[in-house]
Amino acid sequence: MVKSETVLSREEILRRTEAFIREQLDGDSSGHDWWHIARVRVAAMSIGQAEQVDLYIVELAALLHDVADWKFHGGDDMAGPKAARAWLESLSVEGETIDHVCEIIATISYKGAQVATPMRTLEGRVVQDADRLDAIGAVGIARTFAYGGHAGQAMHDPTLAAEAHATFADYKSKRTSTINHFYEKLLLLKDRMNTAAGRRLAEERHAFMETFLRQFDDEWNGRS
Ligand code: NI
Repeated sequence: MVKSETVLSREEILRRTEAFIREQLDGDSSGHDWWHIARVRVAAMSIGQAEQVDLYIVELAALLHDVADWKFHGGDDMAGPKAARAWLESLSVEGETIDHVCEIIATISYKGAQVATPMRTLEGRVVQDADRLDAIGAVGIARTFAYGGHAGQAMHDPTLAAEAHATFADYKSKRTSTINHFYEKLLLLKDRMNTAAGRRLAEERHAFMETFLRQFDDEWNGRS
C-alpha cells in the first residue's frame, strides 16, 4: 500500500478529531457527553494561555481525554491511550505529539483518595485541572448524579460509609453511592489542582458543593 503523501495541518487534525469525538460520544447520558469535552477544551485553553504551554497538545489531549474511558471499558485504564494512539496514527500525527497526548490521557484520571496521580508535563497538568473543574461545582453535581444513575448506584444510602480508597483497583470496584462520591473524590479535588488559575476556580465551585451537600443533608433529615 502506498502511504499518503498528504500532511494534514494542525487545524485539520483538530477539526477531524473534534468530529470523531462528537460522533463517539453522541447520545451519552453518563455525564461524559460531547459537551463535557467542549467545556474541558475551553477551560484547558484558557488555563493553558495563562501557563504559556503548547496549546496544540493541550487542545488535542482535551478533545481525546475521555475516548474509551476505563469506566466504560471493563475497567481497562489503557483503553483510552490505545484508542487515542490509533486515531492520531490514522491522521499521521508526529510520534512525539502522539506520545505526549497519550501520556496525558493515561495519567489524567482520579484513582482514589490515597492514590497520587502526578502529571509529568505542564500541558498535562493544565488538561487535568480543566477536567477536574468540570467534575465539581453545579455542572459537577449534575454530572455526578447523571453518572450515578447510569452506573445503577443509589443516589444516597446512609448505611453505606464513604471510603478513602488506597488503590485504584479498590476505587474502581467498591460499591458506592452518588453522595459518597462527593466525599471519595469531588471534595478532595480542590487541594489537588495543579495551576493557580485552576485552584482559584476550584475554590468557588467547591464552596457551592458544600452548600449543596448541607442543604441535601438538612432536607434528608427533615431539618429544612
Ligand atoms: Ni473528562
